Amino acid sequence: MQRIYLDNSATTKVDPRVVEEMLPYFSDNYGNPSSLHTLGREAKDAIDSARGRIAACLNASPDEIVFTGSGTEANNFALKGVAFANRQKGNHIIVSRIEHDSILNPCRWLKDQRFEIEYLPVQKDGLVEVDELKKRIKKETVLVSIMHANNEVGTIEPVEAIGAACRERGVYFHTDACQSFGKIIFDPHRQQIDLATINAHKIYGPKGVGALFIRKGVKISSWQQGGGQEMGLRSATENIPAIMGFAKAVELCFLEFEKEDERLRRLRDKIIDHILEQMPSAYLNGSRERRLSNNVNIGFYGLEGEAITLQLKLDEMGIFVSTGSACSSNGSDHKASHVLSSLGLDPIQARGALRISLGRYNTEEEVDRFLEVLPKAIAGLKSIASVLV
Ligand SMILES: Cc1ncc(COP(=O)(O)O)c(C=O)c1O
Repeated sequence: MQRIYLDNSATTKVDPRVVEEMLPYFSDNYGNPSSLHTLGREAKDAIDSARGRIAACLNASPDEIVFTGSGTEANNFALKGVAFANRQKGNHIIVSRIEHDSILNPCRWLKDQRFEIEYLPVQKDGLVEVDELKKRIKKETVLVSIMHANNEVGTIEPVEAIGAACRERGVYFHTDACQSFGKIIFDPHRQQIDLATINAHKIYGPKGVGALFIRKGVKISSWQQGGGQEMGLRSATENIPAIMGFAKAVELCFLEFEKEDERLRRLRDKIIDHILEQMPSAYLNGSRERRLSNNVNIGFYGLEGEAITLQLKLDEMGIFVSTGSACSSNGSDHKASHVLSSLGLDPIQARGALRISLGRYNTEEEVDRFLEVLPKAIAGLKSIASVLV
């Protein structure tokens, strides 16, 4: 049976050109960058070059890029590192209600350490209101963390306006750009972003590597102590194959950006238009205009708690989609999505959406096949099919 992978927001297939870039660093150039001999120095040069290549795509300076073991780690580092380094100034942190769990859970932990966490609501399309944010910034505020684009509904937040509001008030602004990086032009200095999280496995690179952009001058404490790697900010022997693959993945996204952006938008709009036209019970979650090029998130009146059953039906037919965020669902208990709830959906609707996320390897034929199979999968949900199609 043909397999169709439509879950590229969860992770992506590693590009063969990335694999090729990584291979020599397992078997030939395997030195430890902290070693003083030739093999070690070659490894150190490789990391420096990867750092420079990624920095160039961000218009940043290489020493503003700190490699981490994941996007989750970079988010933890940003929140905890800034919170503790600036504790004399204040203990107030603002995040949006639709952040990824790798922001929300460290915030819960910071609350236990006597930080005050304020959760900014979003509108029904998932957008934060900058005026609302401005009202909540106070003299104790040390950090605002608002994601660049949401992983479930694809809404793109107005990071430039948020950056300006934070800079004006002397508050650091961090953005989790794991879903947007490589899909939206991103220029942290111009957009007045102080810290940004990126990772490789959403952009056809390997899992287990990420980075935190830290603007020069930002006060942050290290969160992982040890041998002092990564300019003393993140100790651990560097994962060189993954870092080299990350750099290649970033470059490929930037080189191929325009063509790929247009192609993905066309496929995305084809899916959205087709479903909304052909299936009267369907509705789109998130913003139609400010939306990631690869994201479709559809709810169905009447489907409600049956989204998982629909996902499994599609799976039997060789089509892989998601009902929410793979990186936070982690297991079989299917909770209502905190993102959809924050968009104002009721608890039953918030368990009833399908996320279809496109990527580099999806073809128009695959999209057509999905659109052909979807009504059949829904028809298989006997109890509610009559309401749905
Ligand atoms: C928005 C967002 N932030 C952070 C992460 C976590 O990144 P990682 O899987 O590299 O830990 C993810 C998902 O992976 C994500 O979608």
